[in-house]
Amino acid sequence: MQKRIDSILFVCLGNICRSPLAEGIATDLAKKRGLNITIDSAGTGSWHIGSMPCKNSIKVAKEHGIDISHLRARQVGLDDFYKFDAIVAMDSSNIAALKKIKSDATNIYKLGDFGKNGLDIPDPYYFDDYEGFRDVFKMIYEAISVMMDQFFSRKS
Ligand code: 4NP
Repeated sequence: MQKRIDSILFVCLGNICRSPLAEGIATDLAKKRGLNITIDSAGTGSWHIGSMPCKNSIKVAKEHGIDISHLRARQVGLDDFYKFDAIVAMDSSNIAALKKIKSDATNIYKLGDFGKNGLDIPDPYYFDDYEGFRDVFKMIYEAISVMMDQFFSRKS
């Protein structure tokens, strides 16, 4: 049986593009579904600790009525594996980095496994144009919706 999920940590590389978007989207969807869960995000890398989300992630979230400008990047640590029921990674390299921290972790998931055939969420950090952020938003939004249907009984 699926373990009860009360807390979710979204993880990407820098914690400035994809995972803050995922945190904002999941927080919004959880509120709409009346779920009382803890949602956070972190990066496997340390370069951007303390930074705001990238401007295009803030912009695309805002287009959908979601404010992520208050979020600040942090690095994932071993304690997160005990604090969070589900650690949801954006791509395969994030999963490899997470397994380096805790090789026997049983709470690592890949976001693309929820309705996206296991695809990686593309890293938009080096995208030239803004359109790519719209695609990434849509992909993250749809996958989180499927994930929530699976983790929690549907309330609509
Ligand atoms: P994110 O994007 O993992 O979606 O936050 C990136 C942010 C920064 C870098 C790479 C990806 N970086 O190399 O600094």
